[in-house]
Amino acid sequence: MVATVSISDDAARVIRAVQIPNFTMIELHSNATAAPRSRCCPFGVATGAKPRLSTFTVTEAYNRLVSMGLVVARRGSGYRVAARTQAARAAATDWQPSSLTATWLLSDVFAGHSVPIKAGGGWLPNEWINESGLQHSLRAMSRVPAARLGDYGHPYGFAPLRERIAEQLDRCGLPVDVDNMLLTQGATQGLNLMIIRTLLRAGDAVIVEDPGYCNLLQILKLAGPVVHGVPRSTAGVDMDVLEAFVAEHKPKAIFVNTTLQNPTGATFGMSAAFRLLQIAERQRMWVIEDDVSRELVPSGAPLFAAMEDLQRVLYVSGFSKTVTPGLRCGYVVAERTVLRELVRTKMAVGLTSSEAIERIVDKVLLEGRYARHVDAVNECLKLAHATVEERLDSLGLELSSRGRAVSARLGRATGRA
Ligand SMILES: Cc1ncc(COP(=O)(O)O)c(C=O)c1O
Repeated sequence: MVATVSISDDAARVIRAVQIPNFTMIELHSNATAAPRSRCCPFGVATGAKPRLSTFTVTEAYNRLVSMGLVVARRGSGYRVAARTQAARAAATDWQPSSLTATWLLSDVFAGHSVPIKAGGGWLPNEWINESGLQHSLRAMSRVPAARLGDYGHPYGFAPLRERIAEQLDRCGLPVDVDNMLLTQGATQGLNLMIIRTLLRAGDAVIVEDPGYCNLLQILKLAGPVVHGVPRSTAGVDMDVLEAFVAEHKPKAIFVNTTLQNPTGATFGMSAAFRLLQIAERQRMWVIEDDVSRELVPSGAPLFAAMEDLQRVLYVSGFSKTVTPGLRCGYVVAERTVLRELVRTKMAVGLTSSEAIERIVDKVLLEGRYARHVDAVNECLKLAHATVEERLDSLGLELSSRGRAVSARLGRATGRA
């Protein structure tokens, strides 16, 4: 349901509440003429419309507006439009990057104070977070006896969560044993500490997708392998260029994003995946499958790890898209002897991952509403993509791909390609 309702007497600020199952997204349009301290009406009253919003949604909407600094709650007298300085601060944009490099991106964009729209970042809006699942889980955590958190936890990570993930992967067509899995602080730790520092040495040749995930390039730069980029298009990497690179440089590993590739948003095609695995087998090269967005694409996308039985593939994923990036919880799936080496590196450089965090994620996954939340995020993504396509179209840009990977050319609008 989509309802547009006024929240102030003079209808100066309008809120759009988009409700889909288990999810409420609120968007505020500020045409900034509302007098500070003017009283907010209950939703629907000012418009005379019947938006059919539940009391819960209305309360949630007001709570969010308060936390954004746009309205203030007055005990006993309801909500009022906030003084302008508060709203202005919420929208402040003092963005002056020194240089647009990957190093700047890593150190600055995460601080959150500089970039108003994080276009091209692989993360989802905060409002799409698994809020009810997290709250439920945190309440359950408060009942866990503190003594249970009294030691470092298992080097491989909290066993019940590993079992839960194994069940999830099984549903995606990758049957794995918990002994094939290691929990990490996000997929990033999986990529960095374990894979790069365990399997590769400075000077080894590796292949990445071009364009590719910028954080991966930074990790590789710190670790010292020689990096070669192979062009990435919608269906996968350019196989002819890959064959030529492999013959010339004898790379030890290739890094691929299977689903919703960062930054193109494209998902690998099945025949390209088969061809890549054949090349990897011939060259005896590791395939590092970074698949953090698997749950955000329709089922049926290729899964290298499943196609190849973990002999040549290491699978990396996590919960930054479907739970929250704030918990820093991810995992690596690999053949057991390789995994043993990875766990030694994990312990050497940082000891265990946090069992407290892993318990929280475990409860979120256990909770019945997790699947509904993932469906809701997918629905939000679909709507967001449709909006982007519509806006690009209306600007006169030529869309060369649609769906989850939207790309456009400037040709029609500007006369340039
Ligand atoms: C392709 C890719 N890999 C890894 C990550 C980071 O994952 P995590 O937050 O689990 O470390 C991201 C984040 O957006 C990503 O897009």
